[in-house]
Amino acid sequence: MATPRIMLLGAPGAGKGTQSANLADHYGIDHITTGDALRANKDMETEYGTPREFMEAGELVPDPVVNEIVEAAIDEADGFVLDGYPRNRSQAEYLESITDLDAVLYLEVSDEELIHRIAGRRLDPETNDVYHVEYNPPEDPAVEDRLVQRDDDTEEMAQERIGVFKESTLPVVEHFDATGDLVRIDGEQSPAAVWSDVRAAVDAAIDA
Ligand code: AP5
Repeated sequence: MATPRIMLLGAPGAGKGTQSANLADHYGIDHITTGDALRANKDMETEYGTPREFMEAGELVPDPVVNEIVEAAIDEADGFVLDGYPRNRSQAEYLESITDLDAVLYLEVSDEELIHRIAGRRLDPETNDVYHVEYNPPEDPAVEDRLVQRDDDTEEMAQERIGVFKESTLPVVEHFDATGDLVRIDGEQSPAAVWSDVRAAVDAAIDA
């Protein structure tokens, strides 16, 4: 199968964005990321308010807003990797009603490491490339000078987001564990080692 449909689950900072970029590149599939889509439309007026109000509190944006974004993206995609969706059981049920999946992966990382990764993450506003002050600093000083930090990447906000993950998204992990579809990946390894395990898991799933 050339264009797999992949769901990548993981807590904030687990490496979903990093590994989704690898998956999109390697399999030639769309990277569907609700976080980026919402950041690009932070001030969009909806009947629930703007996405910004929820994101700046570390809370989930209301399901109907997010479901609509994902359904439109899936309609246009051949294969895809879902990054940051679904985040609760209701979104998971919605997703299962609109598409099938070939692989469901879960990146496991300890809370301590998550906080360290989130607090050290920096973004290049010109290219959208993601860096880390310690693990993956840019080589070019001009790039280093223009790096910015996401509004919700403070240590306090990271704690809040991890709490929301445990309450709302872990039940999704447990659901796909119970159906036997979930593959757990050790997300605390180096990015290259995580990628090797991710790719092996997807290849095994699509060969099955
Ligand atoms: P979103 O943008 O999805 O954020 P998140 O899930 O909190 O995930 P992150 O982007 O923080 O982390 P990541 O797992 O992608 O890690 P990364 O690869 O960057 O969501 C933001 C907000 O939008 C939510 O709080 C919510 O309000 C809203 N939202 C989004 N989706 C929603 C939905 N479905 N429903 C409702 N609301 C929604 O890596 C992190 C850092 O670690 C980087 O610096 C990276 O360089 C480094 N790194 C990565 N891998 C490794 C490694 N193996 N070793 C060392 N460093 C590593």
